[in-house]
Amino acid sequence: MTVSEVVLAERDGAVGIARLNRPEARNALSADLMERLVEVIEDWDADDDVRCIVIAGGDDYFAAGADIKAMRERSFQETMANPTSVLWSRLAACRTPMIAAVSGFALGGGCELALICDMIVASEKAEFGQPEITLGIIPGAGGTQRLTRVIGKQRAMELVLTGRRVSAQEALAMGFVNRVEKQWFEAAVELAQVVARRAPIAVRLGKQAVQAADETALAAGIAYERRLYELAMATEDRLEGMAAFIEKRRPEFRGR
Ligand code: CAA
Repeated sequence: MTVSEVVLAERDGAVGIARLNRPEARNALSADLMERLVEVIEDWDADDDVRCIVIAGGDDYFAAGADIKAMRERSFQETMANPTSVLWSRLAACRTPMIAAVSGFALGGGCELALICDMIVASEKAEFGQPEITLGIIPGAGGTQRLTRVIGKQRAMELVLTGRRVSAQEALAMGFVNRVEKQWFEAAVELAQVVARRAPIAVRLGKQAVQAADETALAAGIAYERRLYELAMATEDRLEGMAAFIEKRRPEFRGR
């Protein structure tokens, strides 16, 4: 199904694949593109048949960040009233796991979009960076916060204050990406298919629990995890999963 030209949306079984498609602007995240992306992701998030989502760009560009041409004329007042910040929060609120498939440049908002995803699969020529400082601004879609949590303060500080880009291999060493693959797109979809085969409620609970690690102190996080674990124990799928293990067969999860 093609939702719009700027975001190509398709399904591969239980995996939803959204491809950013503004090659003439290096997939810069215009308001139109962001609105379409959120629309597609929220539709899939509400669809029980979609168990995992892949967000991909092209071979040479994941996304070159916010649209600088649109930003140039934006006043302070317009920036304050800009609805795009809400779109970022809506993407982050997606309960279905999201995997970024990144080849080429993931810069500024593009890097922040990858960071909102739960996992990142990169090609050998992927490059990540927060170059906002070179434009006289700072990241505005969670980059300073998510990057710091993923790679640590010193490294995040260097990238945010210098705008330096890091290669896929460096990002892998930093724990920023899950894997670097020649067949990056196929590898991302394959990883999504594995998640999609797992028990759907447990997958969502697992995502919520891991996300809580960024939001809470350890004792509160462990207590929260325990509640989510107890919820998982109340599902029919966990009875099926345990029965299948004991009976030495594949489980058939139903999302109940
Ligand atoms: N916004 C708008 N247009 C962009 C763009 C962006 N972020 N990135 C590239 N383009 C446009 C260029 O202006 C150019 O358009 P024209 O053909 O009309 O001149 C076209 O895409 C091709 O760009 P280049 O000639 O620069 O392509 P390249 O292959 O030589 O370089 C690149 C690619 C390294 C990605 C380079 O384009 C670049 O550095 N882009 C800007 C990256 C950036 O600074 N991103 C941060 C944006 S601010 C932000 O994201 C804020 C936030 O936190 C939300």
